[in-house]
Amino acid sequence: MKIKKITSYLLFSKEHLISFFINVLPSHYISDRFLRAAVARFFGAKIGKGCDIKKTIRITNYHNIVIGDHTKIAEDTYLDSLGRITIGNNVTLGTHILFITGTHERGPHKHRCGPTYSQPISIEDGCWIAAGVLIGPGVTIGAGSIVSAGSVVLHSMPPDRLIAGNPARAIQVFE
Ligand SMILES: CC(C)(COP(=O)(O)OP(=O)(O)OC[C@H]1O[C@@H](n2cnc3c(N)ncnc32)[C@H](O)[C@@H]1OP(=O)(O)O)[C@@H](O)C(=O)NCCC(=O)NCCS
Repeated sequence: MKIKKITSYLLFSKEHLISFFINVLPSHYISDRFLRAAVARFFGAKIGKGCDIKKTIRITNYHNIVIGDHTKIAEDTYLDSLGRITIGNNVTLGTHILFITGTHERGPHKHRCGPTYSQPISIEDGCWIAAGVLIGPGVTIGAGSIVSAGSVVLHSMPPDRLIAGNPARAIQVFE
């Protein structure tokens, strides 16, 4: 028991080890188009064909990741996948995006951050999520929508809309 405790202090967690392997791969065509997805698949993620995944990417639970075909993920994306994260086909994710599935119940006065729970996130086919967006627990972005840079999306959004702001709202309908 003592040894287990000591190793848990000294060693990385499983997620940190996988993150190390996935991000130690250099930024070039073969890593971005094939190797990073292959490592992620090996550790339980479901990733379709023709995806482009840049470093660095941080995923907390590979078994909860489902990504379709021909989806692009730019640099410095964080997928907190305590709950399921589903990203469709032909989705483009800009740089510095946060997907946060985990949250907490509201605790009492002395400790407001209560027990943890999670809700799934879904980005439907064809969406473009611009740089610096935060997508919160339970959010679905409808197919063909664009989320403007820096938006904070805490509620689900319909398809084919321009979504912007904090809190994000659907501000335009596309033809
Ligand atoms: C999504 C985006 C491309 C839309 O650009 P666009 O089609 O030219 O649209 P506009 O900038 O004209 O915005 C349309 C309306 O939404 C509003 N809007 C856009 N972003 C907004 C925001 N974050 N908060 C509030 N309103 C916003 C604009 O004020 C405008 O309103 P108006 O028509 O009343 O003037 C642009 O907002 C954006 O996010 N660009 C950054 C792209 C990026 O991150 N690239 C990195 C590579 S993926």
